[in-house]
Amino acid sequence: MSSFYEQVGGEEFFVDLVSQFYAHVATDPILRPMYPESDLKGAALRLQQFLEQYWGGPTTYQENRGHPRLRMRHAGFHINVAARDAWVNAMHVVVDATQMDPTLRAQLWSYLEMAADSMVNQPD
Ligand code: HEM
Repeated sequence: MSSFYEQVGGEEFFVDLVSQFYAHVATDPILRPMYPESDLKGAALRLQQFLEQYWGGPTTYQENRGHPRLRMRHAGFHINVAARDAWVNAMHVVVDATQMDPTLRAQLWSYLEMAADSMVNQPD
């Protein structure tokens, strides 16, 4: 049984997904100011490598960044429901437009939504 990573088309799929997602982040009034670097390329690469690893691809994320501890890594950012919604909406547009098997899409989506909920760290 091949991994989710292989079934969706490997690195190319994740590069596309993340680059489209960051194109939305770049114009989003809530999200854009939260990203400390002037260039979003580093953030895009970290998310890409994390997702590849999560879905059974190469473990480059862990080799570069160590254990993900995502909630902890987001603790320094003010993530309220509005920020969560902005992230989820941007991701939703991208995931919806992606050519992929509907069962795999549903699996990807339910993970991303659950993960985004768990990143909320501010009441407002
Ligand atoms: C809920 C809304 C979210 C907001 C507002 C948010 C915002 C951010 C920000 C501002 C950063 C720092 C950018 C950087 O890496 O330089 C970051 C990093 C990151 N985020 Fe999120 N994020 C959210 C949800 C998520 C979710 C759901 C995931 C995973 C499924 C995720 C995965 C990551 C990863 C892997 C990094 C890089 C961590 C590292 O290695 O330092 N984020 N996020």
